Amino acid sequence: MTQRAVRKGSGATAAGGTARSYQVKAPAPRILVMLGGPGAGKGTQADVLAEQLGLPHVSSGELFRAHIGEGTAFGKEVQRYMDRGALVPDDVTVRMVSDRLSQPDAASGVILDGFPRTVSQAQALDRMLAQRGNRVAGALYIQVDPEELVKRLSGRRVCTGPSQHIYHVMFNAPKVEGICDIDGTPLALRADDEPDTVRSRLTKQLPPMFEVVDYYADRDLLCAIRGDQSIEKVTEELLHAVETACKVP
Ligand code: AP5
Repeated sequence: MTQRAVRKGSGATAAGGTARSYQVKAPAPRILVMLGGPGAGKGTQADVLAEQLGLPHVSSGELFRAHIGEGTAFGKEVQRYMDRGALVPDDVTVRMVSDRLSQPDAASGVILDGFPRTVSQAQALDRMLAQRGNRVAGALYIQVDPEELVKRLSGRRVCTGPSQHIYHVMFNAPKVEGICDIDGTPLALRADDEPDTVRSRLTKQLPPMFEVVDYYADRDLLCAIRGDQSIEKVTEELLHAVETACKVP
């Protein structure tokens, strides 16, 4: 990655030319946003991109599920929204993600999965980053038709270990049925992947997500990828988009 440089001054050289001196400025942390409907493949792809790009994968859904798993008061409050397939209110979501972005491992950037989910969250993220002299480098939008999203969510199985590795009974099956290839832990259906909750998630969450897609398109930050391709092909196209279009400020 090219580093930007700031001119510091200049001086005459022995050969008579003028040598300018530049102060090397570290690139700003690379903040990538993953967009897509519930089940589009954001988590699957964010895991791979995180490994390839050396950036942490920050999933708002996983952060919420961690609070629920710990049984905190916050987790109990959040669960009421998630069980209904509704979005968690913007103020608490923004605070939680802001805290996560302040952790040392986010210093060189992050892959944000599931956040922002409303225009108000996108604006809050912009303000948060502007205070740090940064901005979103790019928004990667995995486009998948709603009927396909239902198939993906109903067949999804998630590892019950802390890493929450993602599988699909048909499209991305584990080597041993019902067991995570990586952790050896049992796989389970996510509570919000029950058919009624899936329908509710799509109805309530797709409209605000489309507004967020428009928000980044209007700012010339959107890279749209066809998500109805193999997992490997989607990864290839996302990596290409990151390297060609998602520039650091
Ligand atoms: P969250 O955990 O973020 O859920 P989501 O956005 O609904 O997304 P999913 O995790 O369901 O799907 P995904 O796109 O990651 O797909 P995946 O890779 O698993 O959020 C959960 C809840 O928390 C929300 O409903 C809300 O209540 C709350 N919440 C979270 N963030 C919030 C926010 N910012 N504001 C307010 N509330 C918030 O893939 C799905 C399946 O498809 C898998 O089985 C996978 O193996 C398979 N698959 C993936 N890619 C392919 C492919 N190319 N071909 C075939 N199969 C594929």
